[in-house]
Amino acid sequence: MTAKLALQKLSAFLNRTQAYWKPSPFVHRRLLWEAQGLGETLDRLSSSQEIENWLQTGPLAEITAEARQLSIVPSCPSKPLKLGPTPRVPGRKREQIERFIACLLPVLSPVSTPFRLVDWCAGKSHLGRLLAENLSKPLLAVELQSKLCEQGLKECQLRKIEAEFDCTDVLTSPPALRPDDFLIALHACGELHVACIQAALRHRVLGLAFSPCCYNRQNVIEQKPLSQAGLQNFVPFTESDLDFIHREPDVASEHDRRLSERDRIWRLGFDLWQRTASGQDQYRSMPPFPHAWLQGSFTEFCFRFAELDGFNCEDWPDPAPFEAQGEQRFLQVSRREQIRAIFRKPLELWLFFDRVCWLEEEGYRVQWGEFCPCNVTPRNLICIATREDTAQTCSP
Ligand SMILES: C[S@@+](CC[C@H](N)C(=O)[O-])C[C@H]1O[C@@H](n2cnc3c(N)ncnc32)[C@H](O)[C@@H]1O
Repeated sequence: MTAKLALQKLSAFLNRTQAYWKPSPFVHRRLLWEAQGLGETLDRLSSSQEIENWLQTGPLAEITAEARQLSIVPSCPSKPLKLGPTPRVPGRKREQIERFIACLLPVLSPVSTPFRLVDWCAGKSHLGRLLAENLSKPLLAVELQSKLCEQGLKECQLRKIEAEFDCTDVLTSPPALRPDDFLIALHACGELHVACIQAALRHRVLGLAFSPCCYNRQNVIEQKPLSQAGLQNFVPFTESDLDFIHREPDVASEHDRRLSERDRIWRLGFDLWQRTASGQDQYRSMPPFPHAWLQGSFTEFCFRFAELDGFNCEDWPDPAPFEAQGEQRFLQVSRREQIRAIFRKPLELWLFFDRVCWLEEEGYRVQWGEFCPCNVTPRNLICIATREDTAQTCSP
């Protein structure tokens, strides 16, 4: 299937099913789709397996099946690769890098003209260094944090790799690129990967490969499509609609999971307390707070939060009973989020294909797919684009 067709199908589906994925169950105490007894039925289910069965066989079975069908993405063609010893590269990162490089080798190995690799938002540029070593190409690593640049450069020198590090903010002072550059960006968050595509197009570089992540960190209120195809098939969503794409618990440690659960229960308990006490049945968005607050009691948490949020809560009731209500709400919210989760991948893919179409419209040949299984990283999509006029020497 072409990216354009995929985008059209996803748009039709997401537009039609907005009521299920747009309103956040955390914010809204009752969702529109809960009418006709759906909410009550859901609350009678006691395990996530029961909810899963209900999703597959109950009134939402058709939507569930369509969402799952639309979420299927083929693996990106790759050349199996086992890197040699890579000290100081953590296990999961190493596997991501290995698989990212395995997808790039079939595209870049046949390129006969000289080119430079540019690792965009490189960190220590483990990816850039290992790919440059594998292909015997020069490397420019671009990174904001000087400490990471220093460490990365040292590692390259140790391995005798021809490398430069440009310590810069790609958003305000993007690096000078050349037409013979090939950009690589592994997990460049939100606007960083958009800036990568913009820079690539501005300089008409040889090509680029990126795996986008954190679409919710774009510093914009409403997401605007980047491609013409996206504009024609626009699904209006905001940055906060996208937060749930990144709420994937399976990669968090047990300790982090428990802490995040308490965070959510207490926020929900606080919300019920403030709604009851203020008489306004309305969610107020909650600012970030110091993690240490989660180590104290719920009552302390509520008073601290009220102060932070500018509430005068002198006459308010004792918050303590709202902790149990917060727990109750948490269970309800979790069930509704399991429904919402079926739209996670379709939404992510909409954003991804918007970027793919943008590059195609700009005259790049694009190959896309999953570069690793989602247990290695849930942000496992790769887009590899090569300039049309040089694509004969590459193979996407
Ligand atoms: C998620 S890490 C990815 C690092 C590396 N690509 C990897 O996969 O290991 C994002 C990196 O982007 C860098 N970064 C964030 N904002 C940046 C900016 N405005 N300009 C350049 N680098 C930035 C961060 O310092 C961080 O090292």
